[in-house]
Amino acid sequence: MTNIDSNSNRLEVDIAGIKFKNPVIGASGTFGFGREYSNYIDLNKLGGISVKGLTIKPRKGNKPPRIAETPAGILNSIGLQNPGVEVFIKEELPFLKKFNTVIIANIAGNVIEEYCELAEILSDTDIDAFELNVSCPNVKEGCVAFGNTVEGISEITKQVRKYCKKPLIVKLTPSVMDIKEIALAAEANGADAVSLINTILGMVIDIHKKRPVLANNFGGLSGPAVKPIAVRMTYEVSQTVKIPVIGMGGISSGDDAVEFMLAGAHAVMVGTWNFVNPNACIEVIEGIEKYLERYNYCSIYDIIGKLELNG
Ligand SMILES: Cc1cc2nc3c(=O)[nH]c(=O)nc-3n(C[C@H](O)[C@H](O)[C@H](O)COP(=O)(O)O)c2cc1C
Repeated sequence: MTNIDSNSNRLEVDIAGIKFKNPVIGASGTFGFGREYSNYIDLNKLGGISVKGLTIKPRKGNKPPRIAETPAGILNSIGLQNPGVEVFIKEELPFLKKFNTVIIANIAGNVIEEYCELAEILSDTDIDAFELNVSCPNVKEGCVAFGNTVEGISEITKQVRKYCKKPLIVKLTPSVMDIKEIALAAEANGADAVSLINTILGMVIDIHKKRPVLANNFGGLSGPAVKPIAVRMTYEVSQTVKIPVIGMGGISSGDDAVEFMLAGAHAVMVGTWNFVNPNACIEVIEGIEKYLERYNYCSIYDIIGKLELNG
């Protein structure tokens, strides 16, 4: 067990030199720019917030319907709706910076140059880190295309790294044959951390209309349905890379988060469950704390990667 004096915060975790007061981060696209949640929860309590995917120009996103429910999750095809990076810097970032929490800028684009431009612009602001969205399944060009080959992820990480003056987290898609190779390519080309998983492409059909429910036909599946896949991938990736791994996919409780941390995650992101319960992130933080108390651990590091496989 780690020896930590009783005054220290046992939930504190360091990722790429950034101190998170606890390992729970609101996942990109499910937490907006924090405003809506600030009416319900104290954002100061969160380890961090990853903002909605930003692009250079504002985007309206895809046509509705853009959300479809499934028995254990949702499909979304939002298509990167966002106000654009300038509005983010002028209007959203000053609001977010009022809170004592780590702010991660999730960035996306159609071509590598757009990611580089975003990295350059945002490096001169008060954001704390970048999350490179190379894994959004809901836009026609770009994005996911970079995330699902070793060549694609290597090139985009290498290029963005040149413009990025803050820690760089690369977010991985589960829609690949071997996620370990993709994570290794991100690490080799300058990622300071990887986060996973993004959503998995799915389809829901309205049997009466004999049409897909989503206007875009397909959408990204998230929520409890994807959790076992995400836990397995978190384990595989954290066994493979030396950089920290941030795990997500279907987390709805402290116990869920502990699974990811035992599998090797240094931190977790909570996404879809915020829609079900706006207090989800806070309950996840409290749940992790309870687990540490129950087993008498004095540091979150006592559980990270402590999974023992069955013989
Ligand atoms: C409505 C919605 C919008 C999302 N938008 C983004 C986004 O802009 N950028 C991104 O990297 N991930 C985005 N995601 C993916 C989530 O950040 C997360 O990776 C995924 O939902 C899995 O976690 P969960 O099961 O806890 O939701 C979005 C997910 C949802 C449900």
